[in-house]
Order: sequence, then structure tokens, then C-alpha cells
Amino acid sequence: MVTKEALYSDLREVLFKHRSLIEPKPLRSGSDYLPASGKVVGFEELELLLMASADLWLTAGRFSDEFEEKFPKFWGSRKCLLVNSGSSANLLAFATLTSPKLKDATLKRDDEFITTACGFPTTVAPAVQYGMKPIFVDVDIATHNAAVDDILEAITPKTKLIMIAHALGNPFRADKLVKVCQEKGIWLVEDCCDALGAKIEGKHVGTFGALATCSFYPAHHMTMGEGGAVLVNNAQLGKLATSFRDWGRDCWCPPGTSDTCGARFDWKMGELPKGYDHKYIYSHLGYNLKLTDFQAAVGLAQLERLPKFIERRRENFTFLKKELTRLGLEEYFTLPEATEGTEASWFGFFLCGRGQGSEFRNKVVRYLEENKIGTRLLFGGNLTKQPAFEGVSYAVHSHLKNTDKIMEEGFWIGIWPGLSEDNLSYMAEKLSEAVKA
Ligand SMILES: Cc1ncc(COP(=O)(O)O)c(C=O)c1O
Repeated sequence: MVTKEALYSDLREVLFKHRSLIEPKPLRSGSDYLPASGKVVGFEELELLLMASADLWLTAGRFSDEFEEKFPKFWGSRKCLLVNSGSSANLLAFATLTSPKLKDATLKRDDEFITTACGFPTTVAPAVQYGMKPIFVDVDIATHNAAVDDILEAITPKTKLIMIAHALGNPFRADKLVKVCQEKGIWLVEDCCDALGAKIEGKHVGTFGALATCSFYPAHHMTMGEGGAVLVNNAQLGKLATSFRDWGRDCWCPPGTSDTCGARFDWKMGELPKGYDHKYIYSHLGYNLKLTDFQAAVGLAQLERLPKFIERRRENFTFLKKELTRLGLEEYFTLPEATEGTEASWFGFFLCGRGQGSEFRNKVVRYLEENKIGTRLLFGGNLTKQPAFEGVSYAVHSHLKNTDKIMEEGFWIGIWPGLSEDNLSYMAEKLSEAVKA
């Protein structure tokens, strides 16, 4: 009789035979495009992806369960909930804090939250969509992160949330906010989408806030294609987050199971009749943000590679910085620096002009792209200047001078694990040519 095991084994054999077709190829400087970010995937990812396909489970299942079990161990977090993107993770983390079950700690419309304008829009969007008012603090140029003193100064009695990203893999000092947040009843959410593996005083980012978020889009430290996760460091929030992720339902049975509570037809909630099927009782106005086992299977293979990926990003960063310094490029750009007391897990290598203006930045970026070197801006630059922010009510703490400078004069290039030292030397050389031209 043909078994599933025989099918898995045959699939593996075929894949193994064609392994050389699947494995990533080195990029050739000057002839291949050197993207600012990218994925490194190969045999192991495809192997698990095929196993997930052969299961024909199609939704979240055994691969997602295994990932949710393993991933928090990497961080030292309590719990992990998989979702379908980093933006969904931000939405879910935020929505969790609007649960009425949190009583006085529930976030309300018209509460204020502190964040930065120099970053990715979906760190900020969920709270704005809900009706909260963002208070933007400026960032430092070399670390591209908000200084703790600025965040603390921006706190008012209306502040109920601090939701900030560890920008480009370089941490902000979340550790120094924990005590104040506890004393003042402020929720801290760390957007770790760009910062997997970064540490503050030896402890992983994502373990300081009540909630933290990750992205597994291909540009990030590890990938599932599309995917994300919410890390939960607080027992009560885990249950609420699960409800918001899974349609807002009160029932916590995983897909394909029933009656985990042993009282499926005995509940009395809201104004529903007693005994209404618990599977269809909704305690939140939720979403469906789940991912599939295909994504989780790829994630499991990537998780094995993750420590090497992080190490490689750090090595590439150090190498590129040395090259740029050797070529005298500090005269033209502020080079990136890790926040004091932290170990960054670099997402990209950020450069900011020293007052030459945006035309200079644009010319350098164009020159690099013409020479097959990928460039990126620091996401939204200054979010308040984005069309999406027209009509949004916000306030600025002090000023956003550096945020504006980053918008006008900043850009980043790659240090992801698919780039070799040869690629990085080529990038440094072309950058030097660009500024001296
Ligand atoms: C800081 C930050 N937060 C959130 C996201 C959104 O992640 P995703 O693309 O998976 O939705 C990104 C995307 O790059 C990001 O850089």
C-alpha cells in the first residue's frame, strides 16, 4: 500500500537529485544586480514546502504549531502567534490592546501614542486608524533611532502607548522605558520587523515590551515569503491576541479541532442563548490574520539558518564600514553606528549626506543603480509628509529636523547574507566613484 511516508521519501529523492538547480548562486559584482535586500533559500526550504503541500492541509497546521513552539525559544519570549505579514503583526499587536477585557488598561480612541515619523508606515497606521493621536519624536542620524530622553520627555498623562520600530536592525533603548511604562500604565510595543537577533545589554529586542512584532517578508532576516509574528510576553495578552487573529472568536480550538474547553455547548455569553456553540461566539471585533502551513514550513527551514544569517549580516556590516572608512567616505556621509549598549542585527547599511542636499543623494543613488547596486530610502522618510497623512491629526515633540534630513539626504544599501565581500568591496568602490564624480 502507498503511504504518506513513501510519498515524502520519493519527493525528497527527486529534490535531492536536482539539488544543484535549487541552491542559491553567488552574485557576480558588476554583472548581476546586487539588491539592497534579499532572501537566501534552497533545498531545505523547498523540501519542507513540498512536505506541507503533500499534507494538503492548506491552512495553519503542524508546521505552524512547530514554528510557534520553536520561535519564542530563540528570543526568550513567552509565546508566538504567526500571522500573514509584519504589518498584520503590528495590526494584531495594537488591536490586542483595544480589548475591553483589559478594563482600565484598554486603549481608547483619543488616547495618545509616541512613535517616530522616520520609518515604516504600518508601525503607526493601526493606532491612527483606530483614532489615536501620534506624537512623533525625532531620531538620531547615525543610529536612526529615537533617543530615550526624547521619548520620556514626550510622555504626557494622555500617553497610553509607545510603539516604535528598532530601525534598520539597530535597537532603541526599550529596556530604559520598561519601568516608566509600568509606573504610568503605558503599553510598550516593539516593532522588531527589521531587528531579528538584535540585543540590548545582552537581551533580545522584543522581550522588553508587552508585545513585539516580526516580519518574514523576503527582505527581512529570515523569510516565509509573506509572514509575520507577534511575540507575547504577558500571559493575558496571548489569549486576547489569539482571539483577534482568529476572527475575534472566544473559542481557542486550533483549526480542525473542537471542544478543547470540554464545554462547547454549555457557555452563556452576551445576550446569546445558553448553550450557543462556543465555536461561534465572538468576544472581539477581530480579523483573520492567520498564515498557511506552506509559509510556516519555509520558516522552519529558515529558522535553522537564522543564527548564521545574523552573524553574516554583522560581518558584512563591519566589512563594508571598514571599506567605506578606508575610502574616506566619512567626509561625505554620516556612517551608521550601533546604539550604545546594544548589539545591532543590521537590516541595511544607512548613509546620510552631510548637508549636500537631496540632489546629491539622488545623483549618488542613480549612479549606484546604474552600476547594478540596489538602494533603498529609509522607508517613508518623514511619515508626516506622506500623502497618507493628509488630514491626520498628530503632534510633534520638539522638532523633526533629523527625520527631515534623513528624508532628504539618506539612503541605504545591502549587507544581507547573499552578498559576498567581493560584492561589498565593489559597492564601496562605486560609492566612492559616485561622490567623487
Ligand atoms: C519596521 C517595519 N515594520 C513593519 C514592516 C511590515 O512588514 P511586512 O512587509 O511583512 O508587512 C516593515 C517592512 O519592511 C518594517 O520595516
